[in-house]
Amino acid sequence: MDFGRRRKTRLRLGCLKPPPRTGYIGQEMSKSQSQSGSGQTAPAPESRSLPVDLSHYTPGRFDRGAGPVKEAFWLVVSLILFRLCPFSFSALKRAVLRAFGARIGRNVTIKPQVKITFPWKLTVGDHVWLGEECWLLNLEQLVIGSHVCISQRAFLCTGSHDYKHATFDLITRPITLEDGVWIGAGCWVGPSVTLGAHAVLTAGSVATKNLAANGIYRGNPAVLVKQRVIS
Ligand SMILES: CC(C)(COP(=O)(O)OP(=O)(O)OC[C@H]1O[C@@H](n2cnc3c(N)ncnc32)[C@H](O)[C@@H]1OP(=O)(O)O)[C@@H](O)C(=O)NCCC(=O)NCCS
Repeated sequence: MDFGRRRKTRLRLGCLKPPPRTGYIGQEMSKSQSQSGSGQTAPAPESRSLPVDLSHYTPGRFDRGAGPVKEAFWLVVSLILFRLCPFSFSALKRAVLRAFGARIGRNVTIKPQVKITFPWKLTVGDHVWLGEECWLLNLEQLVIGSHVCISQRAFLCTGSHDYKHATFDLITRPITLEDGVWIGAGCWVGPSVTLGAHAVLTAGSVATKNLAANGIYRGNPAVLVKQRVIS
């Protein structure tokens, strides 16, 4: 049965209660919050909001880019070689990534416990460093130029969700890191972000928008603090 139609029918019949007015997640708005300064009750908002219903979530038209057997095989191989193995063994990792469809350049160093979601959606240039425990959540294409350093525990996140839709639809967008970029330890880079050539995202920063070439960016959200001068 069509979920949307069934949901509308249930709403018409009053089976689904409208959600409580909330101040923040899971917290009902208190009386004092819902009253105006004059002591009068604030008017109810015009738009009625549906509750999130994750039971109706589907990934929509999201293309995983590989069949279930290949993906399962990758999960096992990556668990053993990338997650559990305490050594870099970069040459072996490069060969395995290429076998799974990644485009990997020369002299790419891959430290232990690097997490790569889909190697078949990964392009890496030459002389790139991937630090310990960095997570390349590449549901979409992740393109990394040459001479890029991704430090420990950086998280490159190509996925999000449509929180304005009751079914919390999946949103995926690519990420691009141009040549010479440095992503400091513990950074977060969001979907559809491009870091221009030689940009620096300082440790622990959060990039939700494009970073200009040669800029040094810091904070959450990351802002330009100065220009990178390379001698
Ligand atoms: C880019 C970086 C090297 C600092 O560059 P810098 O230009 O030399 O900056 P400074 O050290 O002179 O710091 C300038 C100011 O920014 C602050 N600062 C430095 N790094 C910061 C960060 N990541 N977040 C917030 N503030 C930071 C400093 O405390 C200093 O503050 P002040 O002006 O109030 O004294 C550093 O921010 C960084 O991100 N390093 C990454 C480390 C890393 O990821 N290592 C991986 C393993 S090797």
